[in-house]
Amino acid sequence: MSLVDAAREVRERAYAPYSRFKVGAAIRGASGAVYRGCNVENVAYPEGTCAEAGAIAAMVAAGETELVAVAVIADSPSPVPPCGGCRQKLAEFGRADVPVTLATTDGTLLQTTIGDLLPGRFDAGHMDRT
Ligand code: THU
Repeated sequence: MSLVDAAREVRERAYAPYSRFKVGAAIRGASGAVYRGCNVENVAYPEGTCAEAGAIAAMVAAGETELVAVAVIADSPSPVPPCGGCRQKLAEFGRADVPVTLATTDGTLLQTTIGDLLPGRFDAGHMDRT
């Protein structure tokens, strides 16, 4: 199954009663395993979590910390880009050249990379004063 199809499948399980905007994400780890996540909203709105965050949590819980490909899908007029926080979360576990496929449920695809989504990323080097 393609990464986009994995994201499409898990999107169905999104819990989004407030925005009614369901998002699915799938990540391929360096091992080849695929991890999925969907957005999980909360009545205390800021407590909701994005689909990308769920997929990353599943990957880390399974013992992997390197991702090699990402797909995100939503029922939107154009492919939905990850929010700013999710760009930083993806950059934590993937190199700048990792491919990111953004998809709509009706089949529009946009291909980008973690580096293009988050140029000038904050990384551990910025804390190095020695
Ligand atoms: N959302 C995601 O899950 N991922 C994105 O990349 C963009 C936004 C979710 C958060 C919230 O549950 C809903 O979409 C509306 O913002």
